[in-house]
Amino acid sequence: MDLPAPTGSPYRIAIVCLGNICRSPMAAVVLTELLDRAGLSDEVEVASAGTGDWHVGSPMDPRAAATLLAGDYDPTGHRARQFDAGWFDHDLILAMDADNYRNITALGPPGPSGRVAMFRDFDPIDAGTDVPDPYYGGEDGFDNVLEIVERTSRAIVTDLGKALSTEG
Ligand code: 4NP
Repeated sequence: MDLPAPTGSPYRIAIVCLGNICRSPMAAVVLTELLDRAGLSDEVEVASAGTGDWHVGSPMDPRAAATLLAGDYDPTGHRARQFDAGWFDHDLILAMDADNYRNITALGPPGPSGRVAMFRDFDPIDAGTDVPDPYYGGEDGFDNVLEIVERTSRAIVTDLGKALSTEG
């Protein structure tokens, strides 16, 4: 998957799951941290949202927050938001699973935008598959999400570094 061309600067990425308290905020925190370490924090902005509204305004699920803390990431700034059509002003919208993808595109303009992709389209392992929803499972589900999110975010940072350095 090639990154869609920037529409402006910073390059704006939205990461979307169902509740916006587990997967997408974990991915947004990790991707933001890795962009910062790569010196790209001024050039790329990362936000997250959920297609559902149940948790709007809430912090991360405590299990997601504990998993991030154990990996030395800061989960404390997150508050859940709901995805709506206004989010189509982002350069790239990344769905955590296929249901999220369908819910996102149903809210968008008709026809392919070229800006909605699966988060794991960038995963060097099992590309294009779902990030499994850990909400109803045990703690190991969150460790698995962190592993997927770190590996995929590293690949996204590499692609962004190349794309933004060759631009204009
Ligand atoms: P997330 O996980 O989509 O990764 O944030 C979920 C969080 C909440 C619910 C489902 C999934 N829920 O049904 O409330």
